[in-house]
Amino acid sequence: MTAKHQLSYSKPFTLCFCVSLSYSFSFFLYPHYPSVQMGDNMVDQSSPMRVLVTGGTGLVGRAIEHVVKEEGGAREGEEWIFLSSKDANLMDMGETQAVFLKHQPTHVIHLAAMVGGLFKNMRANLDFWRNNIYINDNVLQAAHEVDAVRVVSCLSTCIFPDKTTYPINETMIHNGPPHESNFGYSYAKRMIDIHNRAYHQQRGRCYTAVIPTNVFGPHDNFNIEDGHVLPGLIHKAYIAQKEGSPLVVWGSGTPRRQFIYSLDLARLFLWVLREYPEVDPIILSVGEEEEVSIKEAAEGVVEALGFKGQVTYDRTKADGQFKKTASNAKLLRYCPNFTFTPFKQALKETCDWFVANYDTARK
Ligand SMILES: NC(=O)c1ccc[n+]([C@@H]2O[C@H](COP(=O)([O-])OP(=O)(O)OC[C@H]3O[C@@H](n4cnc5c(N)ncnc54)[C@H](OP(=O)(O)O)[C@@H]3O)[C@@H](O)[C@H]2O)c1
Repeated sequence: MTAKHQLSYSKPFTLCFCVSLSYSFSFFLYPHYPSVQMGDNMVDQSSPMRVLVTGGTGLVGRAIEHVVKEEGGAREGEEWIFLSSKDANLMDMGETQAVFLKHQPTHVIHLAAMVGGLFKNMRANLDFWRNNIYINDNVLQAAHEVDAVRVVSCLSTCIFPDKTTYPINETMIHNGPPHESNFGYSYAKRMIDIHNRAYHQQRGRCYTAVIPTNVFGPHDNFNIEDGHVLPGLIHKAYIAQKEGSPLVVWGSGTPRRQFIYSLDLARLFLWVLREYPEVDPIILSVGEEEEVSIKEAAEGVVEALGFKGQVTYDRTKADGQFKKTASNAKLLRYCPNFTFTPFKQALKETCDWFVANYDTARK
């Protein structure tokens, strides 16, 4: 999975120039979009893109919408369509084909998925496997049928082998079984990589995938039982603050995670859609040195919310995989100047958003 999966460009590949960003800072000053050769199909990408975003109402989808609409991420003439499950149930092939036929996208960002934290995964591996397999197979085939030239799907660093060496890199996805807590989600997500390789080999398509670490930000799912660790902690700390009770962190607090702010991920997603030339996936993550323990993450939440109460650890709850330290070396080779929003700042913005939107936030 190396050079043979790279596309050849009619012009030299343009390097991205990602720069330091704040929530509202616009940086999308990309050079002219090159033409991409795919087998016998010469695709003129100088005409404006029509981008369909599946899962457009979720955490990542809403961040991409913000970057496109509020930070100047869209270029003149481009059309961006953000889908929710109400527009089409993507587990159903007929509904998927109908929504793709309706919008005729030239490009697709595929985010829609059954998503959840450790405890939801442990309860529903079968559902995670089946639902995600159906969604991914339907979306990629429907995109191919309407002749979409580019699909960027979303994997996750939590799908990598449980027993591995660190740091994890893009070549290691299929090197062994995933952690048993989320094997349904993991194997379903890994199959996107198989899809992409096969669509390239047999149909000449340049469909690819990104591999983010744990994502957090505004519009996350703050449900305590089903959500991911950070939004769950934020919600629990918010309630504990109100009730004057201790904040109970589930597990020992020792596992380590890399977190990426949804706005940073969104900015990188646009770069991948426009510029990244490979079928092989790319890890989108902060550096290895930015990895924090769950205890440090909880302390960050406590500080961001100004929580004054006691913090305890419920060691009867599962910890999940101890760490999944991922290398962002490939990303840095392409985007050496990209600067991530500092974790504390991103956490503060997320907590502020949650407090301000408590009544309507997903929880
Ligand atoms: N969150 C993370 O930490 C994380 C980490 C790594 C990778 N990822 C990946 O990033 C992508 C986006 O995740 P997210 O956190 O933004 O998820 P999310 O907030 O849970 O949003 C999921 C999105 O998928 C849509 N969806 C779910 N089932 C659907 C169906 N059957 N048909 C059509 N649409 C459906 C939802 O639509 P409704 O709003 O209508 O329900 C929603 O827009 C996913 O592929 C996920 O695997 C997430």
